[in-house]
Amino acid sequence: MSVKNNNSKVTLVGAGPGDKDLITLKGVSAIEQADCILYDALVNPEILEYTKKGTPCIYVGKRFNNHRLSQDEINELLVSKALELGHVVRLKGGDPFVFGRGSEEIDYIESFNIQTEIIPGISSSLAIPAMQGIPLTKRTVNESFWVITGTTSNGNISKDIQLGAQSSATLVILMGLRNFSLIMEEIKRYRHKYTPFAIIQNGSLPNETIVIDTIENYKNTIESIDYSSPGIIVIGDVVAEHPSYLDEEIQRVLNSYM
Ligand SMILES: C[S@@+](CC[C@H](N)C(=O)[O-])C[C@H]1O[C@@H](n2cnc3c(N)ncnc32)[C@H](O)[C@@H]1O
Repeated sequence: MSVKNNNSKVTLVGAGPGDKDLITLKGVSAIEQADCILYDALVNPEILEYTKKGTPCIYVGKRFNNHRLSQDEINELLVSKALELGHVVRLKGGDPFVFGRGSEEIDYIESFNIQTEIIPGISSSLAIPAMQGIPLTKRTVNESFWVITGTTSNGNISKDIQLGAQSSATLVILMGLRNFSLIMEEIKRYRHKYTPFAIIQNGSLPNETIVIDTIENYKNTIESIDYSSPGIIVIGDVVAEHPSYLDEEIQRVLNSYM
């Protein structure tokens, strides 16, 4: 590694859920001052336009089974670029500490006595249901919401899905599309069959899609899943607050009589 730059620092910045305007002012200010950017697949590349002219922007990837660099390689690159160039901004989709491995990166960087800062971002888990008009909590409907991974490090669904299904909580499941059927079968064991759910993909972006149905009919929605795009699953009675829910429910009832 080269000689330590006196301004060595790594700032972890949450880039928000996708829409380039959903990053914080503090995040933009860090990007404007950065000497180097490392960014993930879920970061909207338009956000890179805030950089100073000539700032190196390095894509480090990270999508299901398509990692441009391993986590160890990313950690090493963060340290070497901070030592070489000064202030590195590590841009991550949503919030860096929500299923973002942000704390692992901070631990590694700090072990080299490099200064760190964390600028939170708006997590997709909060922003995307809200932008669709689905409240994560509503008085008299539910008392909490759980944000759960749909795929653990060994590929299985989280045991917390079973626990969450036994509560009144709204369940927001990230990284769950590939295990969608397993997840819905688990939920069906505990929630009533008319419980609504939504699958929202490419949230906050121009190509956003949403599919809403009830858990008894979940199999009808499998074909609409695009496995190459990020998506969240929202399960719970609050999904009925979506503006189109009533129309779709009437259609479903009519179809059942045909
Ligand atoms: C590794 S996690 C990172 C989550 C991120 N740190 C956050 O707070 O939003 C990636 C997952 O977040 C969800 N996700 C992120 N951005 C999304 C978007 N624009 N639309 C739908 N889902 C999204 C998907 O479930 C995706 O598989």
